[in-house]
Amino acid sequence: MSITLAFDVYGTLIDTHGVVTKLQTFMGDKAFAFSQTWREKQLEYSFRRGLMQNYENFAVCTRNALDYTCSYFKILFSAEQKNELLDTYRTLPAFNDVKEGLARFKNDNFRIFAFSNGSAEAVDMLLSTAGIKEFFLGVVSTDTIKSFKPNPAVYCHFLRTSGASGNSAWMISSNPFDVIGAISSGMRAAWVKRSEGAVFDPWGIEPTLTVSSLDKLNDAISRY
Ligand code: 2OP
Repeated sequence: MSITLAFDVYGTLIDTHGVVTKLQTFMGDKAFAFSQTWREKQLEYSFRRGLMQNYENFAVCTRNALDYTCSYFKILFSAEQKNELLDTYRTLPAFNDVKEGLARFKNDNFRIFAFSNGSAEAVDMLLSTAGIKEFFLGVVSTDTIKSFKPNPAVYCHFLRTSGASGNSAWMISSNPFDVIGAISSGMRAAWVKRSEGAVFDPWGIEPTLTVSSLDKLNDAISRY
């Protein structure tokens, strides 16, 4: 059976800090720190909504996290500026290694899916804007079951929807909580360590593989 790949989207294929250039025009050198807090809060809100069973889609987590981050940095953005930032978030760029990495997987007949907390429409838009949509067999969104990663139900939803079985399905993610969640739900998982300083959570669960970029992943999975 051919191998199925579930690519995480935000932070793995798509650079969430692609919003920094726009932020810099509003706030100068605090832009990167702002972007980091925004991303961390967005994820925290998704975890909390999942736990509380108080689901709103990922775009709501993103918007609420933007409001929080403005308060935290004591910055008063206008409604227009916030909309500009959220528009930028809807069309964030892909990392440089993504196109070539996906092309190699496709060439080798891997079954490639995007699997994200983002709604199917939002992910579709990101993949189209980044010019990488053609590589995917489909988009699987946690929105369909109204929950978020790392609820085991969402990995189960991925396996059911993609028609893959756990030991022939790989989660590919730069987010340690996603790698741990997928392995804990019976999948294999590769951690894409996108920066030197990235730290994997001490959880008693290690990634099946660790790579620094997608172009190194094809050989690593094929050899596994
Ligand atoms: C995603 O699901 C976790 O943000 C990450 O795309």
